[in-house]
Amino acid sequence: MSYQFGTELKQVQDRINQFLANQFEKIDSYNAPLRDAMKYGLLLGGKRVRPFLVYATGKMLGAEMSALDYAAAAIESIHAYSLIHDDLPAMDNDELRRGQPTCHIAFDEATAILAGDALLNEAVNVIIKTKVPDELKISLLATLYQASGINGMILGQALDMEYETKLATRDQLDLIHHHKTGDLISAAMKMGALIANPDDQKTWVEIGYKIGLAFQIQDDVLDVVGDSSLLGKKVGSDQVNHKSTYVTLMG
Ligand code: IPE
Ligand code: IPE
Ligand code: MG
Ligand code: MG
Ligand code: MG
Repeated sequence: MSYQFGTELKQVQDRINQFLANQFEKIDSYNAPLRDAMKYGLLLGGKRVRPFLVYATGKMLGAEMSALDYAAAAIESIHAYSLIHDDLPAMDNDELRRGQPTCHIAFDEATAILAGDALLNEAVNVIIKTKVPDELKISLLATLYQASGINGMILGQALDMEYETKLATRDQLDLIHHHKTGDLISAAMKMGALIANPDDQKTWVEIGYKIGLAFQIQDDVLDVVGDSSLLGKKVGSDQVNHKSTYVTLMG
């Protein structure tokens, strides 16, 4: 039987979209614009690549899909927050995301900032309230928060902004991509592996960084040659922002 990537991805997208939507049934009493902005940033579209990698790695190592849902939801929640903040005027100043106006355009800047903050916190909640051993929760939280914090995605985003005004060398660019994109993609695979509990997560972490780098290079290339109606975001944003990318460095 041949492996159908498209079918598998669609199944994962449906599964995680349903799981994420269910999370909001419990928090419907939140301040309405804030809750709506969180839903907007999290639920409307997205390829769900990081959840896909949690499920793919965990399943390959013997875990049930249902044992992987909460980790997939937590990492997608962090990713959604990172995109809401990435699009803000003070950062990439983008107005289109997943084929819709960005969160700060659809709502307002303050609501978008708070929605991002709240999604970051919800990622902790979704792990904490899941009924699994505390030791596993701590390992998952440590993995997720190292990957997204000051030594992870946030560092990558800070470097990405810093290199708007100067051209990065290849090593510097690889470091930016390693953190801003690689850390979360690698953490997705590590979380899947942690839940399945294999002896060695190192291999999956390394594969994750290679996928992360390839993913960001492709994103940089598509920002130049892509079709906005397919990507759901404006092309040419990196050039407007004078970003250091593989395209500026290597052509
Ligand atoms: C966009 O991520 C930001 C990058 C790290 C390149 P995705 O391309 O995974 O965005 P969505 O979730 O599918 O919208
Ligand atoms: C964003 O990279 C990476 C994170 C959100 C951490 P980009 O700025 O290139 O992503 P897009 O192109 O806006 O999706
Ligand atoms: Mg950016
Ligand atoms: Mg951006
Ligand atoms: Mg980009």
